[in-house]
Amino acid sequence: MDTAKMINLYGCYPEADLMDFVNAPLGKGLPIDKPLKPLICIPTTAGTGAETTGTAIFDIVSSSTKTGISHRNLKPTLGIIDSLNTHTLPPAITASTGLDVLCHSLESLTAIPYQKREAAKSGNPLHRPAYQGANPISDVFSFTALKLCAEYLPRATHDQGDVEAREKMAHAATLAGVGFGNAGVHLCHGMSYPISGLNPAGYKHPGYSVPHPIIPHGVSVAVTAPAVFKFTASSSPERHLQAAEAFGVNINNVKRESAGEVLSEAIKRFLEKLGGQPRGLKELGIKRGDIDKLVDGTVPQRRVLVLAPGLVGEGRVVMQEGEVEAQRGELAGLLEEAMEW
Ligand SMILES: [Fe+2]
Repeated sequence: MDTAKMINLYGCYPEADLMDFVNAPLGKGLPIDKPLKPLICIPTTAGTGAETTGTAIFDIVSSSTKTGISHRNLKPTLGIIDSLNTHTLPPAITASTGLDVLCHSLESLTAIPYQKREAAKSGNPLHRPAYQGANPISDVFSFTALKLCAEYLPRATHDQGDVEAREKMAHAATLAGVGFGNAGVHLCHGMSYPISGLNPAGYKHPGYSVPHPIIPHGVSVAVTAPAVFKFTASSSPERHLQAAEAFGVNINNVKRESAGEVLSEAIKRFLEKLGGQPRGLKELGIKRGDIDKLVDGTVPQRRVLVLAPGLVGEGRVVMQEGEVEAQRGELAGLLEEAMEW
């Protein structure tokens, strides 16, 4: 679906250079200033929600990283969601694509609120970012998707024939797509691009019959989730507690200060229940010595880092002196914590 979006884009801009529309600072980040051709997207997994979003993500092989193009004109004209298309998905792919849904919903729900998003106030609508920060509309989509995912992803993974679970996950993927396509994602996605792109040990996820190493996108986002939501909780403890409740945790007597710890534990238990998931970056063959390179690959993901609550430079595209170093330290700390749990 993302490839189709890019074919549509460059088909409509035959003179453009490939990097013209790619997110800055890796590309020029030019706005798409005219409508594209109609595009119909039909998902075959319950994962990306790409049929709803104005984002296309791809690998830049020469710099071993992933980035993308984001603009509302990239949004498909129509999405056709039929869960029958997901019935033959093997368990490992059901799980990893579903973990993408989980992180889309958790990250968009906890992204900085739209009124704190400096770039969203840009005077020229053409320059406004596709991602606006958490808002009352995206919250409805993201929270519903989270609840569906927490309940039905383990069922869809463990029983290929569970038609109801497949249907609910297809629904969850699309809802989460609308939620994060408007609000945005943050740290799990920002760090996942170099994790998947670098894959320093050549890890190949069990259950994937491809002839090359692969850290599936959903695995690369979920592996840092326990560390990420512990870090972000102080910015919106209620939201983090609501999220923990979606996983079935009784939050009646939980203190606000413990929201991060509680949600982090709930995510770990969920990943265990799902099965086949790494308990940290170490199980993906990543070593402490790789952290610097992972930070190098995360820092350019400005598009999503600006939405990370509590991170140095929160909500701002332009960083001040000293902030880049401080942010690198925070990202290194998160990756360190995500090494094993
Ligand atoms: Fe994703």
